[in-house]
Formats: sequence, C-alpha cells, structure tokens
Amino acid sequence: MAVAPLRVCLIGCGWISANHGAAWLATPGVRLVAVCDVDETKAKARAAAWGVDGVYSDAAEMIEREKPDIVDIATRPETHTALVGLAAAAGANVLCQKPLAPTMEEATAMVETCDRRGVRFMVLEMWRYLPWAQEFDRHIRAGAIGRVHYFRTIQGREAHRAVHPVFGNQPYFRGMPRLMVYEAMIHPLDTARFLLGEVEAVFARGHRVNPANVGEDMALVVFDHAGGATSLHDASWVTPGGPPDGAGLGDAVAEGSDGVLHYSRERNIVRLSTVDGTTVLASYPDYPMVNQAGFTNCIGHFAQAVRTGGPMGSDARDNLKTLRATLAAYESMETGQVVGLD
Ligand SMILES: NC(=O)c1ccc[n+]([C@@H]2O[C@H](COP(=O)([O-])OP(=O)(O)OC[C@H]3O[C@@H](n4cnc5c(N)ncnc54)[C@H](O)[C@@H]3O)[C@@H](O)[C@H]2O)c1
Repeated sequence: MAVAPLRVCLIGCGWISANHGAAWLATPGVRLVAVCDVDETKAKARAAAWGVDGVYSDAAEMIEREKPDIVDIATRPETHTALVGLAAAAGANVLCQKPLAPTMEEATAMVETCDRRGVRFMVLEMWRYLPWAQEFDRHIRAGAIGRVHYFRTIQGREAHRAVHPVFGNQPYFRGMPRLMVYEAMIHPLDTARFLLGEVEAVFARGHRVNPANVGEDMALVVFDHAGGATSLHDASWVTPGGPPDGAGLGDAVAEGSDGVLHYSRERNIVRLSTVDGTTVLASYPDYPMVNQAGFTNCIGHFAQAVRTGGPMGSDARDNLKTLRATLAAYESMETGQVVGLD
C-alpha cells in the first residue's frame, strides 16, 4: 500500500532557504506543502520557484491550516524558541537551523519542549553531512588512517570589505556581537565532534579586524577531544586583497597513526595518503554541488528518521554539546584561559 508523503512546512524564506527548498524537492516521500515569511513577497517568490501552493506570512496560521508532519525553521536564532514551540505544540516534528539559540538555557528549553510534546527535533547542521565529511567518517571508522590524533579545518577566506562587511547576502552579520565562531565556525566545530568525539577542553582566540563589524571576524579554536585527539579550526573574513592561491583554504585534514585524509576544496577531491602512496577516494564536480549535497543529505536523513523512528545524526539534544563547546570558545577568548567542559 502506498504511504502518504510527509507534509512539510518551511518557515523563513531568506537567503539560506534556497538550499532547504532544493533539498526538500530532491527528497523522496515528502511534499513541501507551504512556505511562510513575515515578508510575504519572499514567501511568494520561493513558492513560485518551487511550485508550492501554500503561502503565508503568519507561521501559527500556516501550521494550524496545513497540519504538517514536519516544520523546517530557516530563520535566525533569536526566533527559534517561539517557532519551535509553535511547531511542537501542533505535534509536528522539527528541523531547525543552527545556531539553535544564543544561550544554553534557551536551547535546552527547546529540547525539553519537544521531548514533552513527543516530537522529533533535529538541528540542520549540514557540515557533518557534506560528502567529504561522510567520506572521512567512513574511512576513519574503517581504520584507514589508524588512531586519529589530529583534525584541522581552514575555512575559505573572504576579503576585508568596508562597505559590505563580510557577505552582501547576509548583511545582518555586521551587527552580531558574536560573529565568526557562533555563526560560521560552529559547522566545523560540530564536524570535529562528529569525527573525533566529545570535546573536553576549548582554547580560542578572536580578533575584530574590520571596524565595521561588531563581533570577531577572525578566529582560531583548539579542541581537546575525549581519547586524546586535538582539532584546530581557523577562519577569517578579513584577508586584505582576498585569499592567496594554494593556501589550503576550505580544506580539512585528519591525521592518524597510519595515514592522512585530505579534502582539497581547490581540487574538490578527498585523498588518502599512507606509506604505500596516495589514492583519490572521491572527486566532486564543484563546491556548490558539495555544499548543496550537505543540505540534501541532512534533510533526507531527517525525513527518513521521522518516517522510521530511527536515530538522528544531529539530534537537537546531541547538538547542545556543539553549542556548549561553541559558547565555551567565547569564554576562552574573554578569559584567555582554556575552558574545561563537563
Ligand atoms: N550552511 C548553513 O547551514 C547556513 C548558511 C547560512 C545561514 N545559515 C543559518 O540560517 C539562518 C537564516 O539565515 P539567512 O541568512 O537565511 O537569514 P535571512 O535573514 O536571510 O532569512 C531569515 C528569514 O526569516 C524570516 N523570518 C524571521 N522571523 C520569522 C517568523 N517569525 N516567521 C516567518 N518568517 C520569519 C525573515 O523575514 C527572513 O526572510 C541563520 O540561523 C543562519 O545561521 C546556515
């Protein structure tokens, strides 16, 4: 007997919703039935592009009328508590953008609300679903590089811009008191937890280089992981003159006792090097494809878990640990100390 598709409603039709919509349309067994934005013109534009019938400017009204199985929240963190509460109260399973919330208290309360209502709750933390991260995970678990002692990410550089600090399509970045680590580096920090295990201690340094920004626009974070491995994460949006070629920007490297895994963003390959030589494990057409695959894999995984009741990789309760480690980076920047985590 045919199973009815899961009904999906999307809240927030801003910049990142383009990736959400493409992922839902590519996911089998679901139907995007309605979209909502307080700015109705944005909702109309997305609905037209995706062939979606329902268009709303009020999330409560959309949920009441559409009776979704899933609510996907693609708004900024300050709005998450209210929207997660609305969805959970209607018995809908919730997928929500990162960062979950500005504080641990708010994020924990959302997880408890969803538990009380008996709905599934996952964070759209898409980096761990990127094809290269999945490739790293498979090979690390299979023992291809032996015991892992180090993981490093260097995020892509953005040139220092005075008029439009950071990205033109995310102009709100300039007013964020917590910027680089909270908004962007949270992705590789979560991926480090995914690949190397829980974080036991955090050391961080940040700089605000562009005076048009309020928050840090360059940061370094070091994690001690349970089991003894170390990870290092480096990002900057203030590289004068733009990024130099061949500097390993956007790359990730995992080093173990028996080999090294390397994702090269410039060449879009994952390779494994051991004493026996180097093998290309995977090759991707371009970076936009890799990025979109992160969203599509993440959303497909969520839909499957909702349907089967199976485990969720970036379950919101698990994601609290990523948020805790991310916020600890700010404690470390402020105090100059290494911050130990329970
Ligand atoms: N790779 C990634 O996963 C990735 C990339 C970029 C942004 N993000 C995250 O996605 C979130 C959104 O980022 P963005 O750049 O798309 O922001 P944005 O401001 O462009 O879009 C947010 C949209 O939500 C709408 N909105 C706000 N409150 C609403 C409400 N109560 N009901 C309906 N609509 C509402 C706004 O009108 C806006 O159109 C942020 O948390 C950001 O960190 C994730």
